[in-house]
Amino acid sequence: MNQTITVDEQVEEQLSEEISDASLQRSLARSRQIEEDISTHPGRYRILTGDRPTGRLHIGHYFGSLANRVRLQNLGVHTMLVVADYQVIYDRDGVGQLQENVLSGLADYLACGIDPEQSTIFTHSSVTALNQLLLPFLSLVTVPELQRNPTVKDELANNPHRPMSGLMLTFPVHQAADILFCKANLVPVGKDQLPHIEVARVIARRFDERYGRGQAGDPIFPQPDALMSPAPAILGLDGTKMSKSRGNTIEIGMTADETAKLIKRAKTDSERQITFDPVNRPEVSNLVQLAALATGGEPQQIADELGDAGGGGLKKLVTEALNEHFAPIRARRAELAADPDHLRSVLREGNAKATAIAEQTLAEVRQAMQMAY
Ligand code: TRP
Repeated sequence: MNQTITVDEQVEEQLSEEISDASLQRSLARSRQIEEDISTHPGRYRILTGDRPTGRLHIGHYFGSLANRVRLQNLGVHTMLVVADYQVIYDRDGVGQLQENVLSGLADYLACGIDPEQSTIFTHSSVTALNQLLLPFLSLVTVPELQRNPTVKDELANNPHRPMSGLMLTFPVHQAADILFCKANLVPVGKDQLPHIEVARVIARRFDERYGRGQAGDPIFPQPDALMSPAPAILGLDGTKMSKSRGNTIEIGMTADETAKLIKRAKTDSERQITFDPVNRPEVSNLVQLAALATGGEPQQIADELGDAGGGGLKKLVTEALNEHFAPIRARRAELAADPDHLRSVLREGNAKATAIAEQTLAEVRQAMQMAY
């Protein structure tokens, strides 16, 4: 049982940035298979997904992942939703408006249709036994493997003058604990996130090889699969990646007027004919895409119908489409945000449920590691 870590070539490739085309195709094929199976056998799956509460959730989060989470939940898949508050501090010096961000994100989740009866929403800092898994898990990865992680590498490349924190270096392992503590077997992600899932798979495998199994003789941790997001990437209103720090987002909780004002300032071009051509006209096509997502229509058809309506006509349509789609969500959100005691009680219940699961898993881990005294 005393093996040293052997990193075979395939693992090496998957833990590093260059996810090969073949490996991406494999993940996509597997993901399609699972997607087909989910509607007939939702009980076979447990999903873990979540967000870093660093700011307000925006329509990129909504169309990119939140709507999909609600869809999966409503198919009957048990969903665990981590509010990754410890991840807030891996790359900054303070917690910022943490409490506010957590409660506001929770109001967004509930307003968008996450149902706390069907989904367990928890803050990982509150789940002590989850965090304790980090210690055995850290023994299962090497520092060079962590240094090859794409997010860790990006952090190094983008902030050459800021020494990296130990939490940043090890956060993929903490994230593996988020996934494995509840034995989730499915993690919805975009393709840039595949290496993170691979860390969780490697840890599940190595734990089994090194420390042993549960009492029934089965591996303690399943190797989770990625469920690749069906959503197209949404750009911000300036045509670059949508992100709070760039000030180009529309928040889920904004008013209709604020939404209209922001879309008025959105970048377009001087061509009156509206087309859906993401490669050559990314900004215009992004607005067409948003209108399509908000109305459930097809981008091509929306562009055809707009014809020569110009940027003004396009913006008017997008504004109406988004405001109509989000009106009921925003109304519910306002009610939820007005009752922080209720939001806190939802979180406390989620944390209690997550803690019961984490304690059970930690007990199995202690048993396997001969640490149950
Ligand atoms: N890192 C994710 C984000 O930035 C949040 C997250 C934390 C997560 N733990 C996770 C996602 C585990 C998937 C699985 O949004």
